[in-house]
Amino acid sequence: MSVLSVVGGQWGDEGKGKVVDLLAGRADVVARYQGGANAGHTVVVDGKQFILHLIPTGILHPDVRCIIGSGVVVDPIALVEEIEQLRASGIEVGSNLVIGKRAHMIMPYHKVIDAHMEELLGVNRIGTTGRGIGPAYSDKAARLGVRVCDLYDEKVLSERVRVSLAIKKRLLSGITLSREELEAFEEDHIMEVCGQVREILKPLVRNTDAEILEAITSGKQILLEGAQGILLDLDMGTYPYVTSSNTGVGGALSGLGMPLGKVDTIIAIMKAYCTRVGQGPFPSELHGDEGERLRAEGGEYGATTGRPRRCGWFDAVAARHAIQVTGADAIVVTKLDVLDNQETIRVCIGYEMNGERITIFPAEATILERCVPVYEDFPGWLAPTAGARSLDDLPERAREYIGHLERIIGKPVWIISTGPGRGDTIEIHNPFSVPEERKV
Ligand code: IMP
Repeated sequence: MSVLSVVGGQWGDEGKGKVVDLLAGRADVVARYQGGANAGHTVVVDGKQFILHLIPTGILHPDVRCIIGSGVVVDPIALVEEIEQLRASGIEVGSNLVIGKRAHMIMPYHKVIDAHMEELLGVNRIGTTGRGIGPAYSDKAARLGVRVCDLYDEKVLSERVRVSLAIKKRLLSGITLSREELEAFEEDHIMEVCGQVREILKPLVRNTDAEILEAITSGKQILLEGAQGILLDLDMGTYPYVTSSNTGVGGALSGLGMPLGKVDTIIAIMKAYCTRVGQGPFPSELHGDEGERLRAEGGEYGATTGRPRRCGWFDAVAARHAIQVTGADAIVVTKLDVLDNQETIRVCIGYEMNGERITIFPAEATILERCVPVYEDFPGWLAPTAGARSLDDLPERAREYIGHLERIIGKPVWIISTGPGRGDTIEIHNPFSVPEERKV
């Protein structure tokens, strides 16, 4: 048995989908533990592209059991649509997918509130995906949420919805809502939406905490699939420019009801450079032509919202912070091939502020915004690495770049991704084999 946790090591969009898909082939169970349909995990199988928002990436492997855990905020309409789209593409979705009874649901009013909050924030807006994530997690913490299990007790459901809406209507009384938006706050409308999904989801709804325990006790290979990235973590990220969940292993433990000490290996996925969507500090961001070039060569547009991603050099200060707070054993470097045409490749190894060197990732977004990156430069390899499948296929300077990253961040690189397809991968170490120091 082995439990492998895959977390995003940057601001999301690191290519987790591709890596999880690759590793899911060796897993019995793949479990999502946080986030919602704000995620966009892109996977290319036999040249065909799939973008998964809520359903674990393991679904593309017929023998894998996929769990949407209690820590996920489930938009039931988006989930049903995703199930239907996958089925239409010939992917089996049935008893191989289970949805946690304890998971909270994203309701139409959460999306309306998300949009209005952003509007009210104005220049301070977060740049959310608009999927209702923050308002749904706020309701969960405020004990005003509606959970998947509530779908199956109409009395409880209508009471939960009634109370939640009554409070919202009072709090939102100063905001002018369109007719369509007003509908999202009508109890009858919400009950109708719930009615549309109730029977479709019913066969899939389970106590997923019990499922996880069962998988552990029966010695299964389990892959924990994180969404977003540690720099968007509610506690360890660049607050307030973060998502509303815990994206690291802590989120996996609480979001799945996973007993402590069961996770064998943690890997953090990082691009060979950095990207970010939405607002918030990004010290190594490249503006103008340089940023535009990385965006074009990396196809850096959001998988969920289509927004252009902000692009910049690899940030080792942020990477070391991500490794520290996730406890990552190793990293996976993705999109190495995007740097193929760069004459010089820069890595941000520290920050400077008011002439002082900063090596610890600041907690304050206002300080991070004023940090000036300090770079170490490396010569580019100016040769194609796309599709390389072994270290020997890489130009010497590309191998050296990987070595420099390992030295600067202090962790080994176990996998390098050189393209979107399953095969475009250099695997140096199989993350499913437990590192010696973690064996008990
Ligand atoms: P929310 O999760 O929609 O509330 O958005 C909060 C912040 O997280 C925004 O900056 C989003 O752009 C960012 N974000 C949320 N999900 C993802 C993701 O899957 N990839 C990258 N950024 C994300």
